[in-house]
Amino acid sequence: MATGTFPDNFLFGAATAAHQIEGSNTNSDWWAFEHTASSGCRDSSGDACDSWHRWDEDLALVQSLGLNSYRFSVEWARVEPAPGEFSPVALDHYRRIVQRCHDRGLVPVVTLHHFTLPTWMAERGGFESPEIAARLGAYTERVAGAIGDGIGLACTINEPNIVALMGYLLGVFPPAVRDRKRFEVVSDAMRSSHRAMVEALRAGPGRYPVGLTLSMAEMEAIEGGEAQYAQALEHLEDAYLRAVGGDDFIGVQCYTRLRFGPDGPVDIPEGARRTLMGYEFRPEVVEHTVRRAAAVCGLPVVVTETGISADDDAERIEFIDTALRGVAACIADGIDVRGFYYWTLLDNFEWVLGYSQPFGIVACDRATFERMPKPSATHLGRIARSRELGSPVGAEPRQ
Ligand code: BGC
Repeated sequence: MATGTFPDNFLFGAATAAHQIEGSNTNSDWWAFEHTASSGCRDSSGDACDSWHRWDEDLALVQSLGLNSYRFSVEWARVEPAPGEFSPVALDHYRRIVQRCHDRGLVPVVTLHHFTLPTWMAERGGFESPEIAARLGAYTERVAGAIGDGIGLACTINEPNIVALMGYLLGVFPPAVRDRKRFEVVSDAMRSSHRAMVEALRAGPGRYPVGLTLSMAEMEAIEGGEAQYAQALEHLEDAYLRAVGGDDFIGVQCYTRLRFGPDGPVDIPEGARRTLMGYEFRPEVVEHTVRRAAAVCGLPVVVTETGISADDDAERIEFIDTALRGVAACIADGIDVRGFYYWTLLDNFEWVLGYSQPFGIVACDRATFERMPKPSATHLGRIARSRELGSPVGAEPRQ
C-alpha cells in the first residue's frame, strides 16, 4: 500500500464521551465535583451539547461528513443509578444509538467507562473500593446483554492511567487526592477492572474486538531527568501495556510531548508552538505512540483519540494531516493500525476547564445547541471518503 493511503476497512471516526456531551448527568461524581467550589472547575457541565436528546443529529452529522465510525460512551451513572438497580430506559437509549449507527453505515465504538462514576460508587470508595472490579464487571455484563449484538468495537476504561494520575496523584480530578500509595492502589484496580470488563463483554452476545484505551505521550528525558522519565513511562504506560495481553487491540490516545527533568515534567521550551490547552503542538506524537504501543504490547492499534484545542481551525487541519501522515507511515511499515478517531466531534465540556477548550470539528452553540461543522470536519471527511491524504500541509488554502 502506497504511503498516504489507508486500507478499505480502515475506520475513520470522531470520538465523544457521555458526560462531555449528553448534559444533566446529575447522578455522577463529576457533577458533584463541578458543583464543589474548591474543585477549581470553571463551569458546570450543565446541558453540555444536549446529545442525550440530539444524538441522532450527531450521528447524521458523522454520516454526512463521510466518516464510517462513531465512538461514544455509555454512562454508568445513568445505566445503574443505584447499586444493582439498572435502568431499562437508559439501556434502551444506548441500544437505539447502536442500531442507528448501523442504519447510518457507522461502526459503533462503545466505551464503557469514560472518567465518571455513579455517586453511589464514589461514596463507596470509587476505584479504591475492593468492590470496584466486580461492580464494573456487573455493569458491563448488563450493557453487553443489552447492546453487545450491535457493538462494533468495545473500549473498557477510557484512559485509566489519567483517571488514576489526575484523581489520586495530582488531585485535580475527583476525588482530588494526592497520595502515591493510593495512586498505586487505584492503578492496580484499573487493571483488574479492565480484566473483569473484558470477561463480561466476551461472555455476552456478539463478537467484536475488545480493548483498553491508554493515554500516551511522546516522553523524553532531558539532562538528569532519566529516573523521572523511566518512572513515568513505567507507571503511566508500560504497566498497562503489559497487562493487555489477550485483548484484541490497544487504543492509543495522545495529544503532545512531555519532557522530564530531575524534578519531574518540565515546561515547554520557550518559543515552542503551543495549543490552546498550553500543550506543545506536536501531531507527530501519533506516529511515536502508535509505534511504541505496537512494539511494547504487540496488539493491533486503534488511535481512539487525538486532537487539538484551537480557535484557528487551520491549525486543526494541520494537526489532522500530520497525525494521519504518521499513521500512514506506520501502516506502510507493516504496523497493524485499524482506525483513527479525532477527539472530538463537538466542542464540549472539557472537564475542569469547562467550555473553554474548542477541540471539536463541529462547533456547538451554547444557547441553541446548533451544530456548526468547521472546515476541519469536511477535511477529515474528505480523507475518510477517499482513503487518501491530499497534498501536503500548506498546499491547501487556509480559511
Ligand atoms: C480524554 C477526553 C478529553 C481529551 C482532551 C482525553 O484525555 O479522554 O475526555 O476531553 O483528552 O483533553
